[in-house]
Amino acid sequence: MSGNTFGVLFRVTTFGESHGKAIGAVVDGCPPNLDLSAADIQAELNRRKPESHNASTSRKEEDRVEILSGVFEGKTTGTPIALIIANRDAQSAAYEDLRDVFRPGHGDYTYFKKYGIRDHRGGGRASGRETAARVAAGAVARKLLAREGLDVLGYTVELGGVGVQIFSRETIAANRLLCPDPEAAKRMEQKLEEARSAGDSLGGIAEVRVTGCPAGLGEPVFDKIDADLAGALMGIGTVKGVEIGAGFHVSRMKGSECNDPIGPGGFKTNHAGGMLAGITTGQDIVIRAACKPIASIALEQETIDVQGNPKKIVVRGRHDACVIPRIVPVCEAMVCLVIADHLLRQKPRR
Ligand SMILES: Cc1cc2nc3c(=O)[nH]c(=O)nc-3n(C[C@H](O)[C@H](O)[C@H](O)COP(=O)(O)O)c2cc1C
Repeated sequence: MSGNTFGVLFRVTTFGESHGKAIGAVVDGCPPNLDLSAADIQAELNRRKPESHNASTSRKEEDRVEILSGVFEGKTTGTPIALIIANRDAQSAAYEDLRDVFRPGHGDYTYFKKYGIRDHRGGGRASGRETAARVAAGAVARKLLAREGLDVLGYTVELGGVGVQIFSRETIAANRLLCPDPEAAKRMEQKLEEARSAGDSLGGIAEVRVTGCPAGLGEPVFDKIDADLAGALMGIGTVKGVEIGAGFHVSRMKGSECNDPIGPGGFKTNHAGGMLAGITTGQDIVIRAACKPIASIALEQETIDVQGNPKKIVVRGRHDACVIPRIVPVCEAMVCLVIADHLLRQKPRR
């Protein structure tokens, strides 16, 4: 199966399925002499891990990462960094009902059409579990970014139609939905509980902000950094839309409102979201991912089996009621990978 490798100079390949022995990533092209420990990666994985809260699946995975290569005495060596995470709590029997039928909204139908083989156990490679490997690789990229003075922060700006009104950075880590508005977080929790008890699911929007990014990252014309960032986020399951800066709102603005005026001290506003002509401006990068509701729901839906016969389906097993908040660290990781790649691509020219 191709399409599992990402990046040009900072290159990541992920492998593994939801119910296989393990998932993992190989990071190739990471510069040497970067401080890196399993604990650095573990800290990020712990943020994505299924928790026993209402938004998340009850699959209990430790997500314990092991570094197999590329690190010596706490420093990267410049050789491929192989990261592996064992799957310990896969309960494939719970997916037996799905052996011959396709879940509406999931990748079951399209994977079957493409490969002609049905791995019905937990979504296989289309499972949210694959994103643990991305988070592990993203943690390596984040170390490189931190060394260059960049910070990448993700948070929830909408869930089930409830949007944030205020931004309090301290609040993000203080609530399980990673929401910067404490009041909105409470209303989001209520919505989630209602949806979960009804056997349904909800969507939401995650935002990622990069601070400390230098001007000049991004390549003309097909490797624009906004195109790469959008592609990176769209490549995550459930993401159906990406906005940069003022996003879709730009279509309703006048030029005089949309342009970011430039003064001797720099740009005065940031409707562009930190990028112009696919190259970073030196302002914060601001990007959002709109996520659809989780496909696997406990309500009866219409579907077909592998022979095309009509069927009714009620999905059991352990599923998130909303991809928020678990997708937030995944979005951060993908942004880290894109920026690390473009930092390395820009370096030789300086
Ligand atoms: C972190 C994360 C967790 C997910 N958990 C589930 C889940 O528990 N159940 C489910 O049906 N889909 C889950 N998904 C979504 C599916 O992976 C995704 O909807 C599916 O691959 C179809 O792709 P699409 O939504 O991009 O069309 C999760 C996605 C992510 C990123």
